[in-house]
Amino acid sequence: MKTQNSITKLVKNNSLQHAGYLAVAKTRAKVLKAVSYVIPIRRPMLFVGETACDELCDMLINEGNTNVFIVTDAVLNKLGIPAKVTDYLDAKNISYHIYDGVTPDPTFKVVEEGLRQSIEANCDSIVAIGGGSVIDAAKMIAMSQGNKCKPKQLIGILKARKPATPLYCVPTTAGTGSEATLGAVVSDDKTHQKALSIDPRMVPLAAAIDPVIMKGMPAHITADTGIDVLTHALEAWMSANASVETDYYAASAVKSVMHYLPLAYKDGGNLKAREEMGIAAHYGGIAFNKAGLGYVHAIAHQLGAYYSIPHGRANAIVLPYVLDVNRKASKKRLAALAKRTGMVQDGQAANGDSEIADHLITQVKNLIADLNIDPTVNGMQTSDFNDIAKAAAKEVSDTYAVPTYLSAAEIKEILTKIKQASDERADSNNETAS
Ligand SMILES: [Fe+2]
Repeated sequence: MKTQNSITKLVKNNSLQHAGYLAVAKTRAKVLKAVSYVIPIRRPMLFVGETACDELCDMLINEGNTNVFIVTDAVLNKLGIPAKVTDYLDAKNISYHIYDGVTPDPTFKVVEEGLRQSIEANCDSIVAIGGGSVIDAAKMIAMSQGNKCKPKQLIGILKARKPATPLYCVPTTAGTGSEATLGAVVSDDKTHQKALSIDPRMVPLAAAIDPVIMKGMPAHITADTGIDVLTHALEAWMSANASVETDYYAASAVKSVMHYLPLAYKDGGNLKAREEMGIAAHYGGIAFNKAGLGYVHAIAHQLGAYYSIPHGRANAIVLPYVLDVNRKASKKRLAALAKRTGMVQDGQAANGDSEIADHLITQVKNLIADLNIDPTVNGMQTSDFNDIAKAAAKEVSDTYAVPTYLSAAEIKEILTKIKQASDERADSNNETAS
């Protein structure tokens, strides 16, 4: 009896804690919504197609810039990818300086070195050529240079006082949509803890979506980054902070990913598919800029930090489980999305929302399976689950407006399922090998 009473008390305490957490999280979500709709967020000028880089350079030149700082990484530089921009700048007699020191998950040291070189070379504008890490590093360099401050001083929300140094982006992957967003992530050099800077001044002036640059992306990275786009769009669509505007961009991105990601994955040289995926990534970025993300990203960020899983793949691993838990609260929204994006098959439109939502979830799961994304998370430890669940819950409570708030136990349940699937996959791989 005493044990029963203790359990009842514990459940009651947990419920009270969860209720308190819910109230705080929902209030924060409302404040974020108000802030995101009051503060205007600029949209970058978008150039699309094989001449997009030339058009981006023309804009930069027409705006009076004469000395460009190019931010990229060593691999892209070695592959000669920046030539698409530098050849054009050469032809127009515009000087430039290349910094290729950006690493995946760039640290403050990487950003500070870029800033030092840009100031030393007296550059008046910045062109980022790369994936999310390169663009985030370039955003921080541009903001620090424009505000004459250290990158660390920009961590937090609305820390800048002045505009960034003019920033232009050439994304080389169709994933993060970072060229459209108002945030940048920098890692601590020692702890590798990620710090976020959010400011509308960080949004680049222009972006060039060039399918020829993107066609070199390997199939597994095309798959991982493509599911990142899908996750941005789905989380923005399901967000309680979604609007008519964010819905437009989220639905467009979902429709494109469902159709073009399998094509880009199977044939990297399919320029139409590459271009559409590039636009989808950009649209996904615009959608989550205002509507926010959700538990898929909150948990995936932790899987990335704990077990070094690439961001897109971590999303692909978590997405099916979060769709399942959101299914009840989001069935109406998911059914509306399925109808709007043509994911409802003939004769299905008359079905109820539950069935249509299930159909959409199944199609998303099938897409992830067709892309052969490995669900294995090496080194996953049950003893980490408390901390992971706590950090994921905090990320959601601090930043997102999700359709269903989960308790720590529910997040741990998802982690347990991921571990089970991962262990099963490892076992079957071992059996095949022996
Ligand atoms: Fe993402």
